[in-house]
Amino acid sequence: MIFDLTGRTALVTGGARGLGRGMTEGLLAAGADVITAQRGTIPDDLQRYASELDRTVTAVRLDLTDLDQVERVIGDLLGGRQIDILINNAGLQHRDDSVDFAMSDFDRVLQVNLRAVFRLCQLLGGPMLDRGYGKIINIASMVSWSGGYRVPGYAASKGAVAQLTKALCNEWAARGVNVNAIAPGYMDTEMNAALIADTARNEQISARIPAGRWGTPADLAGVAVFLASPSADYIHGAIIPVDGGWLAR
Ligand SMILES: NC(=O)c1ccc[n+]([C@@H]2O[C@H](COP(=O)([O-])OP(=O)(O)OC[C@H]3O[C@@H](n4cnc5c(N)ncnc54)[C@H](OP(=O)(O)O)[C@@H]3O)[C@@H](O)[C@H]2O)c1
Repeated sequence: MIFDLTGRTALVTGGARGLGRGMTEGLLAAGADVITAQRGTIPDDLQRYASELDRTVTAVRLDLTDLDQVERVIGDLLGGRQIDILINNAGLQHRDDSVDFAMSDFDRVLQVNLRAVFRLCQLLGGPMLDRGYGKIINIASMVSWSGGYRVPGYAASKGAVAQLTKALCNEWAARGVNVNAIAPGYMDTEMNAALIADTARNEQISARIPAGRWGTPADLAGVAVFLASPSADYIHGAIIPVDGGWLAR
């Protein structure tokens, strides 16, 4: 019961696939209803998973590069229902030599990974602060600490997500809203398809992971449920690595 989310509604950006889907499934299994927000649709098997649990999963179309659209769509959503949990999961990566990195790519990464995250924290955090209860979980990364390689926009955005998490914690913790972050390690999703396909890089990375394997979306389910639950009421401003031990190496 200490991880029970019955009666709660969560918004998970990018919650229909990849790591977001792992967290969506965790929240559904813990009793929450979930709204996923992304450009794409929800796959049928995720809908089936929710109905088997007697829960609902609803898709909202949202392009996080367009903040006017974000404000409109979230405004409409909040007009109809209360959202207790926000997981800022949607994100993108662009890889290129820093010296050639196009500013348009840098801006796009920062837009989705940072600016939209801050705006969503404001839009959903406001009503949470009014109610004196809410859970915000941002998705950081190993490059919230290190610099990565040929991903300057991504590293800058994820470093900033960790700092933003702490900044909001300092203002909102005493008002009943928990703001924390999960920092996944190397996870087997579409974002890493090229790295996974590169046998040499893949072996190099796996050898550095104490757990001996890449993470999966399911590896994020438990930590997301925990941070969304009353069990984490006294956890504020934490950046929790879920990395198979990578940071410890
Ligand atoms: N995979 C890893 O190793 C790893 C490690 C650390 C952190 N992370 C972070 O974890 C999060 C999820 O990554 P993932 O590995 O699951 O990546 P992914 O498989 O590429 O999925 C990315 C998700 O973000 C959504 N998204 C991308 N651009 C969007 C936009 N403009 N508007 C709305 N939604 C958008 C996508 O949905 P649509 O395409 O349907 O819009 C999709 O659901 C990201 O923040 C990523 O930076 C990943």
